[in-house]
Amino acid sequence: MTYIMESSEESRRLQLQAQADDIRPLLRATGLVRGARVLDAGCGPGEISQTLAHLVGVEGRVTGIDMSEARLAEATRRCADLPQARFLRRDIRDTGLPDASFDYTWSQYVLEYLSDWDAALAEFVRVTRPGGRVVVSEIDGQGMNNWPLPKELEDGAQRFAQGLSAHGFDLFVGRKLFQGFRKVGLRDVRVHVVPQYVVAGTADERFMADWRTRFEALAPAVSPAFGSEVAYREFCQAYLRMLSDPDTLKYSVLVVTEGVRA
Ligand SMILES: C[S@@+](CC[C@H](N)C(=O)[O-])C[C@H]1O[C@@H](n2cnc3c(N)ncnc32)[C@H](O)[C@@H]1O
Repeated sequence: MTYIMESSEESRRLQLQAQADDIRPLLRATGLVRGARVLDAGCGPGEISQTLAHLVGVEGRVTGIDMSEARLAEATRRCADLPQARFLRRDIRDTGLPDASFDYTWSQYVLEYLSDWDAALAEFVRVTRPGGRVVVSEIDGQGMNNWPLPKELEDGAQRFAQGLSAHGFDLFVGRKLFQGFRKVGLRDVRVHVVPQYVVAGTADERFMADWRTRFEALAPAVSPAFGSEVAYREFCQAYLRMLSDPDTLKYSVLVVTEGVRA
């Protein structure tokens, strides 16, 4: 299976994305405690695994899994001084990890890529101990909440979403996880909606670079939905102009769903 966001710039983009948010209060609010055995499913370059490892301390353990060798190597380097962190190449839908071996299973920005994310959720339940927590942080319409939005950009945004969806990517997975958690038998399912970004006016260079990298990486996958690569690139340019417009509001939320394994 290929990861549609793959590009040489992807690790850098993920790090900037992770650094932008202080995730610690959310991790604690969803039950992460010192000493916990944690799974970071789809850990990417390990930015959040590092935070998780600091929070659980040396008496805890963080296992980061990902299917990208390059990002695992980066995560291993990043956490070299944290003996409680280890990284393994695994598919999050079939980890091969023992039953009930984690107290807290975390996954962020990964289920959006999987058309069969329910298989990943079932696997999260299997590896989490009874009474342990499964917590998934996901996008919900990222990039779609902008105002004012010219008509051609509105149409383009729909094509963009369709192009992603043709590759199994779900821009609106965040809102679907509450039902998904209940279906796999998790109990006490709670949902937190937190800001992912709010840009009122001209976006800064970091934000623009994030979108440029994303658009570049997605060109092969999403251009067909626009009929041609030229049309896709015109849409990207218009979107970037909208991001730099001082009169436009852009915002996005993360939907964080938590549940307890019965
Ligand atoms: C957008 S990154 C998120 C990284 C990290 N969770 C974060 O919040 O910064 C998505 C990661 O999921 C990984 N990934 C995608 N599908 C996967 C799968 N089926 N099994 C394991 N890793 C997967 C990719 O290799 C990539 O590193």
